[in-house]
Amino acid sequence: MKKVLVLHGINLNMFGKRDPGQYGTVTLAQIDEEVKALGRELGMEVVCFQSNCEGEMAQRIHQAHGDGTDAVVINGGAWTHYSYGIADALGILEVPVVEVHMSHVHGREEFRHHSVFAPVVKGVVSGLGVDSYLLGLRAVAGLMGGKG
Ligand code: DQA
Repeated sequence: MKKVLVLHGINLNMFGKRDPGQYGTVTLAQIDEEVKALGRELGMEVVCFQSNCEGEMAQRIHQAHGDGTDAVVINGGAWTHYSYGIADALGILEVPVVEVHMSHVHGREEFRHHSVFAPVVKGVVSGLGVDSYLLGLRAVAGLMGGKG
């Protein structure tokens, strides 16, 4: 069974409480539930991880190198726009990585238009709320040569 790691970066544990105009009221636990349910449907094991600590996130990504992880879906939060550390960690991986965002980052402030992850991800899904995660999961299923 293919194993997919879904990563949530800085401040994303606050989904449900934070800026509902941008992110709605869905909580991170509900997002994880939906992503895992789709994973079961697609015959994939989904493991979710969130951290507000950049070093901890880098270490979780390192662990994915060699622990049988077949693909990664990442919402890096604000790290997406400036963390070369997380970008480099993702770049070490040899499996497909897809970037997702709940909000439509290109319709927001200028600083959100740039992703330092861009060179190391296969593609981006943005602006579709929880569906961004679900489509990201379908995208990695396709990239791994499975269903989706
Ligand atoms: C976000 C978009 C980022 O610009 C922002 O810093 C976040 C959340 C999103 O899911 O829309 O924290 O990644």
